[in-house]
Amino acid sequence: MLKLGVNIDHVATLRQARYATMLESNNAEPDIVMSALAAKRGGADSITMHVRGDRRHVQEEDVFRVKEGCNLPVNFEMASTAEMVAMALRLRPEFVCLVPENRQEITTEGGLDVSGQRETLRATVGALRDGGSKVSMFIDPEEEQVRASRDIGADMVELHTGSFANCEGAMRKEELARLTAAARVGNQLGLRINAGHGINYENLEELFEIPHLVELNIGHSIVSRAVMTGMEQAVREMVVIMGRYTVEQ
Ligand code: PXP
Repeated sequence: MLKLGVNIDHVATLRQARYATMLESNNAEPDIVMSALAAKRGGADSITMHVRGDRRHVQEEDVFRVKEGCNLPVNFEMASTAEMVAMALRLRPEFVCLVPENRQEITTEGGLDVSGQRETLRATVGALRDGGSKVSMFIDPEEEQVRASRDIGADMVELHTGSFANCEGAMRKEELARLTAAARVGNQLGLRINAGHGINYENLEELFEIPHLVELNIGHSIVSRAVMTGMEQAVREMVVIMGRYTVEQ
C-alpha cells in the first residue's frame, strides 16, 4: 500500500503566528505532538517536519518532542548545512530528506541540484547515513538528478510534484510522463521512490499512474482540510462553555 507521510510544518506555522517568542507559554497552541498523534490515529505512516534556517515554523524542540511523543518514523527535512547536519545527528530520525532552501521562498520551490553539488552532498549523505538515517534527495523529476542521487549514496529520492500540481492540460500530462520516467530510472537503480509537494485531495489520484511509488509526503492540503473539518466542532465546544454563563436578573 502507498504510504502517507504527513507534513505538520503548518501546524507550527499557526502556533508561531501568535506565540513566536513564547514557545514555552502554557497558552501556546496548537500542540505539535497532539497533531502528530492525531495524524497517527488517522493512518499516517510517518511524520515530516522541516526545520528551516529562519525557524519560520517548526522549531528544533518540536522535532525532538514529536520523535519522543509519537511512535512513528520521523522524516526530517533539512538543508545541507553544518547546523542542520549536527541537529540531525542529535535527533537520529528514521529518514532525512535533503531540500534546497532559499530564505525568500514561501515554500520549497525547486528540487535539489544534486548533480551540480555532488561532492558537498556526498559528504552530507555519508554523515547522515553513518548517523543511522536513510537519506532522500528532493529532486525535480530528471534522469540526471536521479542518477546523481544514486551516485552520491542516497537511499531514496522524493520526486517534486509541485510543477505537476501547478500546471494543467498538456503540460500536466508532460509532467506526469517526466515523473513516471524518473520513477522508473530510480527503481532500476535500486532507489526507493517517494513524491511530494502540492498534492491535494483533487489531484492525488492522477499520480497513481506513476510506478514504484512508496510514500507520498503531504502537508498543506491536509492541514487546511483539518481546519475546515474541525471548525464546526471547535465552535460548538466554545458555545457549550459560553452556555454556562448565567445572566444576573
Ligand atoms: N516534500 C517536501 C520536500 C517539501 O518541502 C514539502 C513542503 O514543505 C512537502 C513535501 C509537502 O508539500 P505540501 O505542503 O504542498 O503538501
